[in-house]
Amino acid sequence: MEENFKMVAKTFYGFEEILAKELKMLGAQDIKPGNRMVSFVGDLGFLYKANLCLRTALKILKPIQTARVFDEESLYQLFYEFAWEDYMDVDSKFVIDSVVNGTLFTHSQFTSQKAKDGIVDQFRDRYNDRPNVDLNRPDLRINLHIQEDFCTISLDSSGASLHHRGYRTATNIAPLNEVLAAGLIQLSGWKGNTDFLDPMCGSGTLLIEAAMLACNIPANINRKLFAFEKWINWDADLFEKIQKSQLKKVINPGIQIKGSDKAPSAIEKALVNVKNANLSDFITLQKKDFFQLDKENMGPLHLLTNPPYGERLDGDINALYQGIGDAFKQSFPNTHAWIISSNMEAIKCVGLRPSRKIKLFNGKLESRLLYYPIYEGTKKVHKLRKDD
Ligand SMILES: C[S@@+](CC[C@H](N)C(=O)[O-])C[C@H]1O[C@@H](n2cnc3c(N)ncnc32)[C@H](O)[C@@H]1O
Repeated sequence: MEENFKMVAKTFYGFEEILAKELKMLGAQDIKPGNRMVSFVGDLGFLYKANLCLRTALKILKPIQTARVFDEESLYQLFYEFAWEDYMDVDSKFVIDSVVNGTLFTHSQFTSQKAKDGIVDQFRDRYNDRPNVDLNRPDLRINLHIQEDFCTISLDSSGASLHHRGYRTATNIAPLNEVLAAGLIQLSGWKGNTDFLDPMCGSGTLLIEAAMLACNIPANINRKLFAFEKWINWDADLFEKIQKSQLKKVINPGIQIKGSDKAPSAIEKALVNVKNANLSDFITLQKKDFFQLDKENMGPLHLLTNPPYGERLDGDINALYQGIGDAFKQSFPNTHAWIISSNMEAIKCVGLRPSRKIKLFNGKLESRLLYYPIYEGTKKVHKLRKDD
């Protein structure tokens, strides 16, 4: 039996609870949400499963050592004495990513350098030979986190951030991060069983993440490489078994997932990405201005969109947001409408009172995910349909 160990899934601000929920559904143990991270316990197979399936994780770290460090010398000694041979040999290529907080260590690059010296000197003293650093294609990616004098050494099991799903080859001007898109969908409460629309879909990120969720397709099934594939305990059979068992859970959700955009170039890109994700059977795309779009039937609709924020030459941004509010009211009865935007001024122009406002960050931009429930029929009917 594989041993259980602690892991840490990193995520975005505001996604901790939904990531914890995903981990619970996947079967993790001892789940503890923290600040932009969730810790949990599982075995090697679960580490593979977490990387493959989690939609809102950016990285999965495996802590291998914690210690107090007081200065450069104690950090160097910690790395010099650690049992690196359990994880690498003289021919391995490695890299250290450091995150330092506090007053004792202030330069992450310098900290990485000291830690690297410890590893290199250990091998050189034993074998008269040393492993090399490779920033781009390391065999082992080591994560060093120092908070004041508390140091955690972890193995990075993911490598490149897990938002690199492998399907997006064509990008628009301001594409959403895939992990952010997946989190927005979950925060908006969509369960994959009602029709979904993104009327300003750009390169199609929200649509693809929505379709993968609805079809139960593992988020990273199209990804080419995880860092754990280069670990010395890499178990290709175990990974294949996990992949196969997850793919058995894929379903046809029997709903419509539609995207539109007024820019032909955006639709072209979305088509390429949808094809890359093997989702052409589930997502329909059309070039259309949102203001010419009508709801296709009276059933419940989940609308989630990421309009321009007005940072570039987007014309009159306030008028655009006012138009969005008018379109919601006039053309989208019985709709759960959600918008993500960082333009607080423009948001006010929507002219509807959001019933929820969730603070998030889109990159560095502080943003709000806003919910506008649009009711059915006349304004007197203040309830969404029962079958919703
Ligand atoms: C921020 S981008 C969306 C990016 C997208 N979420 C992605 O991941 O690629 C905003 C999109 O809104 C589209 N747009 C702006 N005004 C529109 C309108 N009136 N009707 C439809 N699309 C519009 C733009 O063409 C652009 O593709």
